[in-house]
Amino acid sequence: MLPSIKRLNSKTLVLLGAVVGVILIALGIVVASLTQDLTFLVIALLVVAIEATAIGVLLVRIGLITMSVSTRWQTAIDTNALLQLYQNFSPTSPMPSPGGVAATPRTLYYLASVASEIPAGHTVVECGSGISTLWTGLALKKSGRNVRLISLEHLEVYAEETRRNVDALGLSDIVEVRVAPLTEQAINGVRYQWYSADALTDVSNVALLFVDGPPGTVGRDARFPAVPLLASALDDGARIVLDDTDRKHEQEIADNWMASAWSGATLRKLTATDRSTVFEFSRSDS
Ligand SMILES: C[S@@+](CC[C@H](N)C(=O)[O-])C[C@H]1O[C@@H](n2cnc3c(N)ncnc32)[C@H](O)[C@@H]1O
Repeated sequence: MLPSIKRLNSKTLVLLGAVVGVILIALGIVVASLTQDLTFLVIALLVVAIEATAIGVLLVRIGLITMSVSTRWQTAIDTNALLQLYQNFSPTSPMPSPGGVAATPRTLYYLASVASEIPAGHTVVECGSGISTLWTGLALKKSGRNVRLISLEHLEVYAEETRRNVDALGLSDIVEVRVAPLTEQAINGVRYQWYSADALTDVSNVALLFVDGPPGTVGRDARFPAVPLLASALDDGARIVLDDTDRKHEQEIADNWMASAWSGATLRKLTATDRSTVFEFSRSDS
C-alpha cells in the first residue's frame, strides 16, 4: 500500500478524480433529463462526494509520507554536521545542544570551517552569543593562528552563560563575550536599536561576521545595522553569515544589504546553509 501511494502523483490524482466526477455528473444529468427521474443524478452526486473525500484523505497521506521522508533526511544531514563538528574540533567539556534559538548544526559547521581558515591578524565578530560562540571558538583554537572572536551580547544573563561555557572549554584567551547594550542608532535617517557603538571602537580586520542578533523581538529590522555599522571594519572578501533567512524579515534585510554600497563595498550572495545565507563583502565591485 505504502509504496503505491508514494508513487502516486497528487496532480494526476486530482485530475483523474475531477474527470471521473464530471463524467458521472454529466451522465446523471443526461439520465435525469431522459427519464425525468433525479435518482441517478443524486446517486452520481453522492459518488462524487465520496470520491472527493477519498482523494482528500489520499492527498493528506501523501503529504505526511513526504514530510516524514524529508524530516528523516534533514535529521541525517544535521547528525552528520554534528559528528563532523565533534570529530574536527574535539570539545573538552560537554557542549550545549543546538536547538531553539541557536544556530543549526549545518550553520555551526559552516562557521567553524570558515573560522579555521582565517589567517592571523584578522577577527571574527558575532552578533548574539550562544552555542555558535563555542564552536567558532573551538575552531579558532584548533587553527592556532591567533584569530580572536568578539561576541556581542546585549543581555548580561546570556553573556554570563556563554562565558561559563567559554571558560569550561578553555577558550577565554580566544573568545571575548562583550556585553553591548542596545542603543538607538540612525542609518540614513532611520532609527534602529543596535549594539552600543562603545563596544565596537576597537573592532577591525573582520574576516567573518555572524549576524544572529539582536533577536526579532527588538524589531523586524533588528539585524539590518550589522552591515552598515560594521562595514568600515570588514575585510575585503569577508564572509557575512545572516541567520534565520528562512524568515521574511531576514530576507528583506538581506535584500536591503545587497541593494546599496556600504563603505564603498557591496555584498553578493555566496552560498546558504539550511537556515542561513552567506554573503561575500567586496570592495572591488563597487
Ligand atoms: C538567536 S540568539 C543567538 C544564538 C547564538 N548565536 C547561537 O547560535 O547559539 C539571539 C539572542 O537571543 C538571546 N538568547 C540567547 N539564548 C536564548 C534563549 N534560550 N531564549 C531566548 N533568548 C535567548 C541572546 O540575547 C542572544 O543574543
